[in-house]
Amino acid sequence: MRRLACLSLALIAAPLLAHAEPPAAPPPVAIHAGRLIDPASGRTLLDQVILVQGGRITAVGPSGTVTPPAGARLVDLSADTVLPGLVDVHTHLTSNPEESGANSLTVSTPQEAITGVVNAKKTLEAGFTTVRNVGAGGFTDVALRDAINDGEVPGPRMQVSGPPLGATGGHADENLLPWEARHADDGGPSGIADSPWGFRAKVRQNAKYGVDVIKFMASGGVLSHGDSVGGQQLTQEEMDAIVSEAHMWGRKVATHAHGTEAIKAAIRAGVDSVEHASLIDDEGIRMAKAKGVYLDMDIYDDDYILSDGAKNGVEESSLAKERQVGRLQRENFQKAWKAGAKMAFATDAGVYPHGWNAKQFKTMVDWGMTPMQAIQSATTSAADLLGWSDRIGRIAPGYYADIVAVEGDPLKDVTTLQHMAFVMKGGEIYKSGGR
Ligand code: ARG
Repeated sequence: MRRLACLSLALIAAPLLAHAEPPAAPPPVAIHAGRLIDPASGRTLLDQVILVQGGRITAVGPSGTVTPPAGARLVDLSADTVLPGLVDVHTHLTSNPEESGANSLTVSTPQEAITGVVNAKKTLEAGFTTVRNVGAGGFTDVALRDAINDGEVPGPRMQVSGPPLGATGGHADENLLPWEARHADDGGPSGIADSPWGFRAKVRQNAKYGVDVIKFMASGGVLSHGDSVGGQQLTQEEMDAIVSEAHMWGRKVATHAHGTEAIKAAIRAGVDSVEHASLIDDEGIRMAKAKGVYLDMDIYDDDYILSDGAKNGVEESSLAKERQVGRLQRENFQKAWKAGAKMAFATDAGVYPHGWNAKQFKTMVDWGMTPMQAIQSATTSAADLLGWSDRIGRIAPGYYADIVAVEGDPLKDVTTLQHMAFVMKGGEIYKSGGR
């Protein structure tokens, strides 16, 4: 019976499929790369040709050994350095730095959605062809991801979290408003809860509305009103519940944690990444290493918050919290990297202007990474954290044709990554600088 049903379904489906419009395939492209950085091997290859067809890379090899198909568009990057599209595992495309402190209260959900469209384009043009967006209101990030995937608006590939989960009064809550003007948590799209089962329900809510990843706040934050940046905000039980529920629904978990104890509780709960990790201690570093947990440390932010925060509306209390963690975070970044912890490139863009993502490479090199290691954090390592090692982070056959290029050599001067000369995503060229 079942087989018969399948057969008749196939018979109905076949003519439908035959009539379906094939998606317009961009013409094949052959890229001539003067230098090609291969983060997977840590090597630079000279004089390579990359073939792209149907949005994917089909061949890579020394020029002369790879023959472009007839009708291929030739892209001459022979004077440039080519590398895989970059990945930022911590962005907030739907918000801007000017919306800090009390300014944040004026932003509506529809405005947030439009902001996301503008920033998606800026981010892509900066060479970031994939981002993990960890925190947005009203599922604006889900809509943005889908619009980008459908080709409606230009932007990076996205994994999104929807509203982050957190405690009442914690880093994810709105603490600026008095009680009578509060955002009522009436079951609307917020992530605020106060018990293990409350959080399991929030994980299910976010999964239902289409998120790829669960974000929760294990400790206080810099930019949140009225909390202590290092203070733990969820119990071990609550974190355990979030992680087991999220993993049951096939979602990885990113936790915001500056505080020493909160970081360790989150790692114990089984999170996949710790964001910020500012006050991590030696034991925390050992635990992260032992469990293979990624540390996603946004070490550029300190400069921007301290220089431009006040004008953007950041409260004096938040600036004081930034002074408390900024330098320590960099020192701990260096310590954790030396100790061999896994790290992925994470900027918290939105805290500073979108499109500036690549500025952090220099800070990472100043604090102990080689340029190649910093590039690996934004390609192979980030791809691993996202569970996408089979499709992004490398220039190799079968991978998405997410390919960027800069003039000069980022291995000698990593700031060259701040000036993208060429950006291709999925075989489509979004920036070519006349090439
Ligand atoms: N969103 C983060 C928070 O409010 C930003 C922290 C930025 N500071 C830093 N040193 N990384 O906590």
